[in-house]
Formats: sequence, structure tokens, C-alpha cells
Amino acid sequence: MVRITSALLTLASVAAFASAQQCSGNGSMCPNNQDGVSNTYLQCNSWSHTYQNAYCPTGQVCYANPNSPGTTMCGLPGTGGSGKCTGNTAKCVSAGQSGAYQQCENWSGQYVNANCPAGLNCYNNASNTGVYCQ
Ligand SMILES: *[C@@H]1O[C@H](CO)[C@@H](O)[C@H](O)[C@H]1NC(C)=O
Ligand SMILES: *[C@@H]1O[C@H](CO)[C@@H](O)[C@H](O)[C@H]1NC(C)=O
Ligand SMILES: *[C@@H]1O[C@H](CO)[C@@H](O)[C@H](O)[C@H]1NC(C)=O
Repeated sequence: MVRITSALLTLASVAAFASAQQCSGNGSMCPNNQDGVSNTYLQCNSWSHTYQNAYCPTGQVCYANPNSPGTTMCGLPGTGGSGKCTGNTAKCVSAGQSGAYQQCENWSGQYVNANCPAGLNCYNNASNTGVYCQ
């Protein structure tokens, strides 16, 4: 009992002081290691070896990156992160409502933000694996 409590306290303080924590490389983490909550994430500055606040694109929140442990990714709230993707797949952020979509990036296996040409909305195609702009 005592041990569990102190372990929880330790975790809480680690999270609270994460921004002053030493880090290496270009790792990143969500604040308090919580998925799907924060519009900000902590990005390691590989020069100073400390975490710095960074911002997800508007409307997106931080998730641990399932494809690359020790790093984060931004995704839409409630999606659990965009997760892995393969090939040339894409999906609309809000079909018919905006031109925003997520395009699978071939080499990294992650979705990246993309937009239809100005004035066009995004629609998912018939097999739901690609999009078209109209
Ligand atoms: C740093 O970022 C690059 C490109 O985003 C990635 O390939 C590499 O694995 C990352 N390194 C670490 C330690 O996360
Ligand atoms: C993208 O995917 C195709 C088919 O999977 C592959 O042939 C091609 O080499 C990939 N391109 C890059 C840049 O990874
Ligand atoms: C939907 O888009 C994907 C990616 O461009 C493509 O591979 C697939 O054939 C398309 N499906 C249909 C039914 O057009």
C-alpha cells in the first residue's frame, strides 16, 4: 500500500516536472503521458536536452505514436491517434464539411495533414480508402 502510493507520487512529480527533465534525441511525450487530451506536447530539444512545449495543429491533440515509441503524434480528438497507415490511403477529417484530410505518408506509415485546393471539400471515395476533392 505504502509502496503503491509513493510510486504514484513519483510518477506524478515526474510528469509535473517533465518540462525541466533531461531528454535526448528528438523524443517527445504528451503532457502527463495522457493520450488524446492536450493540444500541446513536450518535444525534446536535442541541443539543450530539455523538453519544450510544442503545439499540435489547431483542433488536434497529442497521442503517443504507436509507430515510434518515445515519440508523439497529433490527431483528432477521439480517434485514438491516426495510428498506422499503409500505402496511399487517405481519409477526410469531416467529409463534405471542409477540405482537410489525412494522407498516409508512404515512408513513415503515419497520416499527415493535407488539404484540398481552396474552396473544395473533401469526400471519402467508395472504398473509404482514399479521398477526392469537389
Ligand atoms: C528523430 O526524428 C526522425 C525524423 O522525424 C526519426 O526518423 C528518428 O527516428 C527520430 N529519432 C528519435 C530518437 O526519435
Ligand atoms: C511508396 O509505396 C510504394 C508501394 O508500396 C513503394 O513501391 C514506394 O517505393 C514507396 N515510396 C517511398 C518513397 O517509400
Ligand atoms: C480510393 O482511393 C484509393 C487511394 O487513392 C484507391 O487506391 C482506391 O482504388 C479508391 N477506391 C475507389 C473505389 O475508387
